[in-house]
Amino acid sequence: MGDRIRVAESARVKESRSLLVDAFGRKVALFRVEGRLFAIDDVCPHRGGPLSGGDIEDGQVICPLHAWAFDLETGVMRGNASCRVPVYGVMEEEGEIYLSAP
Ligand code: FES
Repeated sequence: MGDRIRVAESARVKESRSLLVDAFGRKVALFRVEGRLFAIDDVCPHRGGPLSGGDIEDGQVICPLHAWAFDLETGVMRGNASCRVPVYGVMEEEGEIYLSAP
């Protein structure tokens, strides 16, 4: 894994909620699902919709604009394995969240 950077306090990402952060020159959406954190590029590859505003279903984030769905762990689009959003390594330590580049 490459460099990691601190992006937020753990308490800022509540269960089933998102938080938009800046990291590596990108907008990154953090999500907490069943206690576990995920980090995915905020920009939908379709028309740039904000994935941080999407609902979560079955481990996927649903783009709020036109409902394309992306796996939170792999970034792969539902129904189109050739389309993929960057995902980031994410870890929590002592109440802080860190990301590593995709
Ligand atoms: S912008 Fe995300 S589905 Fe269209």
